[in-house]
Amino acid sequence: MSQGQALELLANHAVDAAERAAIAAFALAGRGDKIAADQAAVDAMRTGLNAMAMKGRIVIGEGERDEAPMLYIGEEVGSGEGPEIDIALDPLEGTQLTADGMNNALAVLALAPRGGLLHAPDTYMDKIACGPGLPAGVIDLDASPAENVRALAKAKAVTAADITVCVLKRERHEGIVESIRSTGARIEFIADGDVAGVIAAADPDGGADLYVGQGGAPEGVLGAAALRCLGGQMQTRLFFRNDDERERARRTGITDLDRKYDLTEMAAEHCLFIAAGVTEGDLVDGVRHGEGYVETQTLLFSSVTGLRRKISTRRPAAR
Ligand code: FBP
Repeated sequence: MSQGQALELLANHAVDAAERAAIAAFALAGRGDKIAADQAAVDAMRTGLNAMAMKGRIVIGEGERDEAPMLYIGEEVGSGEGPEIDIALDPLEGTQLTADGMNNALAVLALAPRGGLLHAPDTYMDKIACGPGLPAGVIDLDASPAENVRALAKAKAVTAADITVCVLKRERHEGIVESIRSTGARIEFIADGDVAGVIAAADPDGGADLYVGQGGAPEGVLGAAALRCLGGQMQTRLFFRNDDERERARRTGITDLDRKYDLTEMAAEHCLFIAAGVTEGDLVDGVRHGEGYVETQTLLFSSVTGLRRKISTRRPAAR
């Protein structure tokens, strides 16, 4: 069996793990406690992962071993038999969104054969991403946002005013916003959740042409996994606020701290990307409870088959 086929066999269970996390987190949505919501998602996803027939290893998780009791980086999950799989996960992407009962919180994970995903530290990362079907190198992290907007507009044979850029609403992005505005392009701000932001830029129906900004490095790897399945371009660079963060990066095995990463260096050729809706969202619906059942909606992207599935699942409420 090829590595790709082995991955595909894990898809259903991985979807189940994401959905368990979404349901658990949703129970705490709007209750003002992001830590409790995150913990509920972590517990549920871990239970789901441990039911999978694989030798799983967390490469992007809840933090380093000494700070995360569960789903820490390096933790082994799964039955211990089956293919060797590396897993990047964020059981609750949008902890504050969930605590505030706001839209677009997701339970996210990506699976790849061992060595297929970048081991990124839990620091910030500068990111730029766009969708498929464009000339290689059309976007460049080292060019200004304005230059990227113009290059993208030219490649798409539209004007800069026709380009929409997705940006996390943060004070640190003032310079980026100013640069984008100078071109006349439109900005779609998101409050949180830049994995979905990257997907919005790569998906032809996503509403954006470009994603630019600084967010979490773990979310960067998850976004890259999604793009590996969807097609598109992405470049990133780790951003460190202090020596402790640089040390964290060194501990993950990174020697060149200024390295610019390409999509292919962040996510292997073959991976699965899964995102289950927690609260209602642009990409997927959130968890919904009905008479005796709970319904979830989940995205499943595969670079192996090229398929993009949106799965709706109803399960008996008690399970
Ligand atoms: P959490 O779910 O871990 O809170 O992350 C939400 C998020 O918006 C990510 O999507 C993003 O990469 C990161 O936070 C940005 O960090 P910050 O809120 O510090 O700007």
